[in-house]
Amino acid sequence: MSLIEDLDALEARAREMIEGADGADALEAARVALLGKKGEITALMHMMGKVAPEERPVLGKRANELRRIVETLVEHASSDLRRQAMANLMATEAVDVTLPGARPTLGHQHLINQIAQEIEDVFCAIGYTVEAGPEVETSWYNFTALNAPMDHPSRSARDTFYVVDNAPGSVVHPEPHAAGESDVLLRTQTSGGQIHIMEHQEPPIYAIVPGTVYRPDTADACHLPQFHQVEGLVVDEGITFGDLKGTLDYFAKAMFGPERKTRYRPHFFPFTEPSCELDVSCHVCGGKGCSFCKHSGWIEILGCGMVDPNVLINCGVDPERYTGFAFGIGVERVAALRYDLPDLRALMTGDMRFLAQF
Ligand code: DAH
Repeated sequence: MSLIEDLDALEARAREMIEGADGADALEAARVALLGKKGEITALMHMMGKVAPEERPVLGKRANELRRIVETLVEHASSDLRRQAMANLMATEAVDVTLPGARPTLGHQHLINQIAQEIEDVFCAIGYTVEAGPEVETSWYNFTALNAPMDHPSRSARDTFYVVDNAPGSVVHPEPHAAGESDVLLRTQTSGGQIHIMEHQEPPIYAIVPGTVYRPDTADACHLPQFHQVEGLVVDEGITFGDLKGTLDYFAKAMFGPERKTRYRPHFFPFTEPSCELDVSCHVCGGKGCSFCKHSGWIEILGCGMVDPNVLINCGVDPERYTGFAFGIGVERVAALRYDLPDLRALMTGDMRFLAQF
């Protein structure tokens, strides 16, 4: 067989090897076998030196042509494989940009914060400032400055969470309560905010104090050991019970609707005199009486009263010059009334099926 025929056979084999390569590895193996240092075509090129001079031009031309052909075939096969791999990737990992996106679930404010903020808005609209007080309080702010006598039952450890510090020399809350004013507790009401405000601010004062309060109550349908109040305090010259009524009537109508009637029922709080509880007419029956309002036609929404002169004196405010009123709104109460909630505990469980409704 002539050398030319050998070259033709080699070309046919090379085509077969290259075209038959079914992946990048097989193609690389074929390339090494043909064009590598010890490859057949490389060996062929080395052989040219030994060919008879008269055959050299023809054979040399053919050998060079063969090498170029094989190189081109490898190149084409390689780019075909790459194109194929890319096509496979596009098919398997394709992103359909026309599909609707996955919408992230958006959270929103908890119902309690919504209501507290709505109460803030109602009072900010008539010029009140919003103040804050500490949740960890001393008994001075929570009780004593608020005119609560030392033997007031709400001071007992059964009604107040005391922060017990066992360090030597610290006051561990005794029962019944008679310790000094350094007792540290979790505030049971936002009313201590009144004292903080008057300590820092001269009248006229028109302020509210929203906040979390704590009481050692077992959670049930209408009690939570941790709940929320919005305290209100007004101290100015010439403030009367008429101002209290006008302000809280405005609040009740803003919060519960303009058709609501209000009723001020006498009550007792140590820090206000006179004191009362404010009822609004029942929204379920319109005041006729139903099971929601326990057939009274009224629902209690807050405690209020004229600031006791002793409280003003405790804060260095002259009771001969200034008078004031205060009120305390239960935020969970307002929420329960607004949405007819049968069980306050639902507010604390974090169950999104419940919370997402508001
Ligand atoms: N602090 C009272 C409570 O927790 C509520 C209250 C009643 C606040 C009368 C007041 C007030 O400011 O004047 O039950």
